Amino acid sequence: MRTKKALGWTAGMVALVAVAGLHGCGSDDTNANSSNNGSGNGGTTTPPTVTPADAATASANIQAAWVEIGDSNQAIARAVTSYVAPADAGANGVCPMLTVDGKATRMTLRVGPATVPLRTTASAPADSKPSEFPVSVCEATVASTATSAAIGTQTLPLPKALPQRIVVLADTGCRLKKADNAWQACSDTDAWPLSTVATTAAGFNPDLVLHIGDYHYRENACPPDIAGCQGSPWGYGWDTWQADLFKPAAPLLAKAPWVVVRGNHEECARAGQGWSRFLDPRPFDTTRSCDDPVNDSTGNYADPYAVSLGGGSQVIVFDSAKAGKAALPTTDPQFIAYQKQFQTVATLAAKPGMTTTIFTNHHPILGFAPIAGANPAPGNLALQSVMSNLNAQAYYPTGIHVALHGHVHDFQAINFASAHPATIVTGNGGDNLDVALPDPLPAGSVPAPGTTIDRITHHASFGFLVMDRKASPATGWTFKAYAKDGKLMATCNQTGNTVTCDKTGFIAP
Ligand SMILES: [Fe+2]
Repeated sequence: MRTKKALGWTAGMVALVAVAGLHGCGSDDTNANSSNNGSGNGGTTTPPTVTPADAATASANIQAAWVEIGDSNQAIARAVTSYVAPADAGANGVCPMLTVDGKATRMTLRVGPATVPLRTTASAPADSKPSEFPVSVCEATVASTATSAAIGTQTLPLPKALPQRIVVLADTGCRLKKADNAWQACSDTDAWPLSTVATTAAGFNPDLVLHIGDYHYRENACPPDIAGCQGSPWGYGWDTWQADLFKPAAPLLAKAPWVVVRGNHEECARAGQGWSRFLDPRPFDTTRSCDDPVNDSTGNYADPYAVSLGGGSQVIVFDSAKAGKAALPTTDPQFIAYQKQFQTVATLAAKPGMTTTIFTNHHPILGFAPIAGANPAPGNLALQSVMSNLNAQAYYPTGIHVALHGHVHDFQAINFASAHPATIVTGNGGDNLDVALPDPLPAGSVPAPGTTIDRITHHASFGFLVMDRKASPATGWTFKAYAKDGKLMATCNQTGNTVTCDKTGFIAP
């Protein structure tokens, strides 16, 4: 605590110095007066000016702050603030100061407060409402050479060139959905354990966090006769994002930078507005904001990008938010959009020197979806149809070793006897769990034609995944599935496109 306070004091003071620096006090200041200030000024002593604290940086205004990593490994600091700046403060006046290696700079306004008029949503208009964002989102890029960063008293985690440990989670929000009559008990941490998952995962001290999508689930109003969700915010505005992600996940946001993958819950007709404002690593763009349905054909798709993990490993991030369940005809605009995205994946996967390329998107492609009382469904047919058109029954382009997904609310680790990437699903981060897959799988079960399963390890408990880099000269990662309380469920050793787990079949909690 003392250290944190000391850091906060320093950051705050640096902020004041930086503000004062505009008047010529900075150490690198070239103002001609700078050589003739201080105590040696002819015997007259000017009382020190008391600079008021920077109101925009006051912790009471900062609702959330984190660092995420985008294209080209660019670290981006983001802050959500409720501060309302004076009228003459300028566009960025609402934003806090970000102190990086002792130098304070005001962050840049990404997008200001707004109430977005009701658009078509996944729900009936009577169960929808305008999206209220009574907050500003500020951002600043952070150089890879930076060693410290803070907003006021809050230190921010910075990326490491060679992260050793990565926490992976997905499907974390609390489900309030009228169409499914699904009302998760958001105020019960046993029923909706994201805060437990985030706290436990933060205790593993990851260097990086990978969230594979579906952050927001509170779409419709909790009915009056359902006790567990009374008082919950609903709809697609800031209050639901705060309740579903930023508040419960705060310990994990504070611990490490995040790589953020988009889920189907963040497509434009659902929580796409919040995705665009808060999480999308790209610059804010009104045509990608999901505010106006006329732009959804732009806002629902995005170019893949790679995040280097160093040491011959990389993660390729793919946006499949809008992927449906059916195979796509080649003339479908969606087919064309995903075809282009997968062509980019092929280019990224062909990067020389990569020993472990991890592809990540929300929907399992060569994984299963359990169905109560029936054989499991295969992987996503829409994406498979595009991939098989490009790469036949290899599906993935050359160079993909591992595929990580969410969407299905359980854990699966699949090793293929056929030449396909090891596939791991970890969609068990907080939303209602799916039923367990049958054990053993029904004979002939495959996630896609042309694939042959060697082994599958799975469970249907809340939890998350931890990836540990294998010590050199070995390549690849060890993947460990943990339950929400930190109980180790399975350890899987990955090499190339294979994964070997210490357990096979269903793992009881
Ligand atoms: Fe999903």
